[in-house]
Amino acid sequence: MKVATVLGARPQFIKAAVVSKAFSLSPEIDELIIHTGQHYDENMSDVFFQELDIAKPAYNLGIGSGLHGFQSGRMLEAIESMLLEEAPDWVLVYGDTNSTLAGALAAAKLHIPVAHVEAGLRSFDRRMPEEINRVVADHTSDLLFVPTKTALQNLRREGLPDSAIHVVGDVMYDAAIYFGSKANARSQILDEFGLRSGEYVLATLHRAENTDNVDRLSSILEGLAQIAREVPVVLPIHPRTRKVLVANGIVREISQRVRLIEPVGYLEMMMLEKNARLIATDSGGVQKEAYFHGVPCVTFRDRTEWVELIEMGWNRLAPPVSPATMISGLRDGLESTPRSTQTPYGDGHAAERIVQILLEKGRTRANCMDSGVMAGANPLS
Ligand code: UD1
Ligand code: UDP
Repeated sequence: MKVATVLGARPQFIKAAVVSKAFSLSPEIDELIIHTGQHYDENMSDVFFQELDIAKPAYNLGIGSGLHGFQSGRMLEAIESMLLEEAPDWVLVYGDTNSTLAGALAAAKLHIPVAHVEAGLRSFDRRMPEEINRVVADHTSDLLFVPTKTALQNLRREGLPDSAIHVVGDVMYDAAIYFGSKANARSQILDEFGLRSGEYVLATLHRAENTDNVDRLSSILEGLAQIAREVPVVLPIHPRTRKVLVANGIVREISQRVRLIEPVGYLEMMMLEKNARLIATDSGGVQKEAYFHGVPCVTFRDRTEWVELIEMGWNRLAPPVSPATMISGLRDGLESTPRSTQTPYGDGHAAERIVQILLEKGRTRANCMDSGVMAGANPLS
């Protein structure tokens, strides 16, 4: 069975790493990776393939950056050509980026079955590009691999059939467990940046709603700068955010107060997360990783898809409407002592379940094709 994995952005490499490993243990599955090239800097792409030992993509479409329509449109066209050439049995997409949207749409139009990992997440805010990508990917997918019960409920509410939905757990939890001990070998990163375990705030910032809105961005930066007077703040800066700071001529000013560092690899990031006193972020993945590593988190967004973390007290929202809300959110986070030990993200075996389910569905499909039940359904057959 041939599975074409379409990916292109940093969090997708991390999610795919564990599923690809599970694929490699199954002789019946031949995985082919199509990298859209959405992320292309060495420290946003190659580093993950190298350190997480992900197979080299069979194709890199080299799409790069651009406005949504331009970027997604070019991806759609290029992915379609690849799928026509390769005729996979399944297309697998991850998360909610423009690469997810293009992969799902290209496959669905060719009647190639689509499996969506991290399906069912909703912020209920259609101004977020990710929300549109999630909804389209879910509604064009044949198999929906959901990480949580909340995600299952979201899909049921939208009328998607139970037969397509599988609660498998969160592949990011699998990754945190699988790569956890490898990450310990990167402990020198703390010395490298002059950090002491339990005595700094780790921040990340890249969400379009924050970087592209001057008021929100300055509230976040001012909040972090104020807190940095009490506790050092280190921020591996996403290229999108760096570009905005450069364009506004404020990199130097910010870097005098907050420790700006280049994006780091996943293993180093895990060490920075594990040893932080607090994590402050607008990232989806980093919110969960904070919990996986037992570190409280403050999220500077109006909403989050990962509602379990808020309910358990491990995460709190600090909508960046003013520096004051940021500062009080960060202070609350620094003082918080969450205790809940529920496990809403599965048992660390989500990737194996995904592979098993794909295999079962693949066999059923093959039997139906043999008996002629599905003849003509696939324009490639
Ligand atoms: C994308 C996803 C977002 C995800 C994030 C993960 C969409 C709509 N957004 O956001 O959901 O959380 O990835 O990190 O798909 N850039 C570089 N080098 C790179 C990549 C990007 O310089 O390797 C710069 C470019 O100026 C580019 C900007 O970052 O215009 C934004 O990149 P893009 O991939 O469009 O969106 P992200 O903000 O990375
Ligand atoms: N990450 C990383 N290096 C960094 C920042 C983040 O490896 O410098 C990892 C992080 O540990 C998580 C993933 O990237 O696994 C999250 O990606 P990002 O925040 O870019 O996207 P999101 O999850 O918000 O879509």
